[in-house]
Amino acid sequence: MFRPILRAQLAQPLMCKCMQRRNRIGVVLDIDGVVKQGKRAIPGAREALIRLREERVPFIFMTNGGGNTEAQKAAELGELLEFEGICSEQMLLSHTPFRPLAERFRQRRVLLVGSAETAQVARSYGFAVGTMAVRSTQIVKGTEDIFPWPRATCDLPAINVNAPGEPPIEAVLIFYEPADWALELQVITDVLAGGHPLGAEGAGAAALQRAEVYSSNSDFLWQAGYPVPRFGNGAFVCALQELWLKRSGSPLQIQEYGKPYAVQFQAARQLLSQVAKSNEFEQIYMIGDNPKADVRGANFAGDPWRSMLVCTGGAGGAAGGSGRPFGGVERRKTKRGGKNMRMFWAWSFSP
Ligand code: G3P
Ligand code: MG
Repeated sequence: MFRPILRAQLAQPLMCKCMQRRNRIGVVLDIDGVVKQGKRAIPGAREALIRLREERVPFIFMTNGGGNTEAQKAAELGELLEFEGICSEQMLLSHTPFRPLAERFRQRRVLLVGSAETAQVARSYGFAVGTMAVRSTQIVKGTEDIFPWPRATCDLPAINVNAPGEPPIEAVLIFYEPADWALELQVITDVLAGGHPLGAEGAGAAALQRAEVYSSNSDFLWQAGYPVPRFGNGAFVCALQELWLKRSGSPLQIQEYGKPYAVQFQAARQLLSQVAKSNEFEQIYMIGDNPKADVRGANFAGDPWRSMLVCTGGAGGAAGGSGRPFGGVERRKTKRGGKNMRMFWAWSFSP
């Protein structure tokens, strides 16, 4: 049920006309904890999307999640929210900006880290999966004893990284947190150390980092289906950093993508501009549930970004939040635009 004051405000046609006339507002929606939680749609999310469409406000999704293609994610979300027409062009996953790396590493071998679907995602970006872009499971399958514990095999060809003529692995691309941390951490640290057999350089004495590392998401925790937030890719990277520091004596050099980094917000703006068919925005509202990723990233990106925190996810939902927006976070909003959107969002997420 809407609070009376908001219902009264929403009844005013001023907001819609104003937004249509200016047509310079864009909305970037986080996914987990904002429109869905685990396999459940968050109440009000569908209505919010309908309202955005009715008001002709261009919107896209920007999530630190990933592990499947943009098209799959768009289809899944559309089905979950019972909202037709979400397309891959509205979907910025944590690893979407990895796409240009396929060209950069076309002739060089890289290690792909992520969920089971990562091979498919990387293939869709243009990586030569299985030959130049390889999975740890391929290495474990083909390199005797590199990982001393039994693990499920994979469908991709086995690779013996210690066989003569095998190209060195020059980069580690962490698309998504893997299910099998132990296996991945072993193989990644061997790759970072290099040497022959792989990993030899890192045993004992200080080791140089022989491969670049790219990571798509620094969320330590995220709001999945379980009532308490779960470890995210940031936690996996944390484990990798600690292991590498201990093994090599040097901090891990890593290039981070995903929210809150500028690279992601630039990519989001580009995507939103394509959807809006204009790059002129007075405000772009980042609606998120994670102060460290969503709010911080938008605030750091500066004008025209505005941050709005909702309490449906990690920021409050799991900790007993009310489902209402969390006031007082956005500090740089203009009075008129910010007020309008706050009313709008308050309506969308009121319990
Ligand atoms: O793995 C997903 C997670 O880290 C957060 O996703 O949609 O809240 O950015 P999202
Ligand atoms: Mg979130």
